[in-house]
Amino acid sequence: MLRFGGDYNPEQWPEEVWAEDLRLMSEAGVNMATVAVFAWSRLEPEQGAWDFAWLDRILDLLHEHGIDADLATATATPPPWLVRAHPEMMPVTADGVRLEFGSRQGYCPSSPVYRTHAVRLARTLATRYASHPALKMWHIGNEYADHTLECFCEVSAAHFRTWLEARYGTIGGLNAAWGTSCWGQLYTGFDQVEPPRTAPGPVNPAQLLDWRRFCSDALLELFEAEKAALREVTPDIPVTTNFMSILHGLDYWKWAAAEDLVTDDAYPDPADPESHVAIALSYDLMRSLKRQPWLLLESSPSAVSWRAVNAPKPPGMMRLHSLQALAHGSDGVMFFQWRQARFGPEKFHSALLPHGGTATRGWQETLQLGRDLKALAEVAGSYEQAQVALVLDWDSWWGLEAPESMPSDRLKLKELLLDWYRPLHARGIAVDLAPPGRDLTGYRLVIVPNLYLCTEESAKALSAFDGELVVGPFSGVVDAADQVHPGGAPGPLRDLLGVTVEEFWPLHDGVTQATTAGAARTWTEWIHATDAEVVARYRGGELDGRPAITRKGGVTYLSCRLDDPAPFLDTVLARADVHGVEVPRGVEAVRRAGHLFLLNHTTDPQRITLPQAGTDLLTATSRQGEIELAPRDAVVLRLEGRK
Ligand code: GLA
Repeated sequence: MLRFGGDYNPEQWPEEVWAEDLRLMSEAGVNMATVAVFAWSRLEPEQGAWDFAWLDRILDLLHEHGIDADLATATATPPPWLVRAHPEMMPVTADGVRLEFGSRQGYCPSSPVYRTHAVRLARTLATRYASHPALKMWHIGNEYADHTLECFCEVSAAHFRTWLEARYGTIGGLNAAWGTSCWGQLYTGFDQVEPPRTAPGPVNPAQLLDWRRFCSDALLELFEAEKAALREVTPDIPVTTNFMSILHGLDYWKWAAAEDLVTDDAYPDPADPESHVAIALSYDLMRSLKRQPWLLLESSPSAVSWRAVNAPKPPGMMRLHSLQALAHGSDGVMFFQWRQARFGPEKFHSALLPHGGTATRGWQETLQLGRDLKALAEVAGSYEQAQVALVLDWDSWWGLEAPESMPSDRLKLKELLLDWYRPLHARGIAVDLAPPGRDLTGYRLVIVPNLYLCTEESAKALSAFDGELVVGPFSGVVDAADQVHPGGAPGPLRDLLGVTVEEFWPLHDGVTQATTAGAARTWTEWIHATDAEVVARYRGGELDGRPAITRKGGVTYLSCRLDDPAPFLDTVLARADVHGVEVPRGVEAVRRAGHLFLLNHTTDPQRITLPQAGTDLLTATSRQGEIELAPRDAVVLRLEGRK
C-alpha cells in the first residue's frame, strides 16, 4: 500500500469539523494521518493535568475510517508552564541571547529538564495508546534542527565538555587534536573549553568541526531517549522522525541508523523550474540512507508560507511532484497539512483541503492524487541498487564549509554534488548516495564530488572499489581532526590517485581557467602526476600546460571544478558501461525496480520514444514506441517481462 495523507491538527478546530474531516479523508482515499505534532500544551495544559479525551476520540475516528495514525510524541513545542518554571531550558544564541517562548522548538538540546519531560510525555502517550489499533508509527519530535540546531548556554557547554572528554580522554588529547598551540589556545582542563561562541576573530576550525558533530549528536541523543521510552512500551511500532532533505546540520547517515523508517519533508519551490532536480537528489539520499524505501511525510499541496514570496503550485504540479517522490523510492505521499489553518504563522500555507473547501481546484487535485496512488499501489516496497553512486560525508561537509579559514569559501558541497547529479539526472541515470566507508560493491561508477576530510578508513574503502572512480578537487586534504595530512593533499588518496597537490589556486567569481577538457571555474590546483596519466591539461594562465585531470587504472582525479562536467561525464559513463534513458530536456526518467516513471516537468507537450514496452498504470493502457506526454503529465510503466 502507498501511504496518502498528511499532518492533521484537529486541536485547531472545533469538534463539529472533525466528522467532515474524516468523511472527506475517506472520500480522498487518505490512509494515514500524522497527529499531535504540536499538541503538548493541549495534552498537558498544566503539569500532570492530562487531557487525552480529544486525542482518544481522534484516534478512534481515524480507526473507524480505516486510517492509520502516525502518532507524534508531541515534544516539538514544550508548553508555557514548563518554560516558565524552567526558563533556562530555552536556547541561547552564539551572541548570548536567550530566545523567548512564542514559536516552536523552544528547547536547549542539552537541557535535562526538557529531556526528562519529553521522555515522560513519550512514555505516557505510549502507555495510553499501546494497544490502540490506529497506532501504526511513532513520529518522534519534528524536523530536528529546523529552528533549534544549537544552543550556547552553560548547560550546553557542560554537555559539550562531557562529549569532548569521551572523545579525547585527556585534555592533552584535545590540545593535540585541536592544534591549540596555534594562536595560544592551550587548555589545561576541560573546564576551560567553551562552545564556539562569537569571538573576536575566526574560531579554531577543529573546535567548530567538533561542535558540528556534537550538535548533531546532542539532538540524536534526544531522539534516542524518546525512542527508548517508546520501545519499552511498544516494541513493535516503528519509529521515525521527519528529515529535512539534505540538511547541513545533522549527519543523516548516523540518524537513519537509529530509525526504523526514513521519512522526509520536501518543499521544492514551484517558482523555480529546476527545483525538481535538487529535490530528486535529496530523495535519492533518503532511499540510500537505509537502502530501502522511505516515505515522503510532508510536502506542500500548493504554496508554502515561509519563503519571501510563496508561489502556488500550478495545476498538475502537485501530482507530478508526488509521482516524482514515488519514482525515487517513497512508499507514499503525505502533506503538510490536511485542512488549511485559519490562524497562526501557517494560515496561508496550502493544504489538501483548502480554505475554500471542496469547491476548489485544490480539492479536485487531492481527489485525483488519491486515485492515482491507488493505481500505483504495486510500486510500494520495491527497491533496487543503482549503478552509480555519489559519495557524501557530513564530517567532510562541515570541514569544507568552515568559515574564514579556507583557501576559498566558494566550494559548497551541495553545489558540487549537483554539478554531477544534474547531468546524471538529465540522462535518466539512477543515482544512489553513499557514505565514504560503505561497501561499494555492485556500483559501476562512483563519484566523489569532494572529500576534503578523508580518513585512512575512507581511503581504504574507496581503494577497495573496483569500478570507475572519479574523485573531485580538494579531496584528501585533512584528517578527522581537520589537520592537513602529512605531505599535503591528497593524503591517504595519494597512491590511489597517483598525484600530489602542491598548491590550491581558487578562482574568483566569474573567472574561468581553460583546460583541454573545457573551462574550469571556482577551483584549480597545481598538481603533479606522480604515477598517473595526464588526460587533460590547463591551458593559458599561470597553470598553463600543467595537469588538470589525471587517470590511474580506473581512477580519475579532477583538480578543478569543470564548468560543464557533462562531456567528461559521458566518457566515464561509456567506460563504466552505464546507460540511461533518452528524454527531452525537462523530462525526468526514473527507474524503480521494474517500473519506469516518465515525468514531464515542462509546460510543453513532449515526445518520448519508450526504451521498452509496458503498461501505464495510471491509465491502465499498453504503451510502446513513441508517446506524447502532456505538460506536467506523467506515465508510470510497468515494464514488460517484469513484475
Ligand atoms: C515542516 C514542518 C511543518 C510545517 C511545514 C510547513 O514540514 O514539519 O510543521 O511547518 O514545514 O511547510
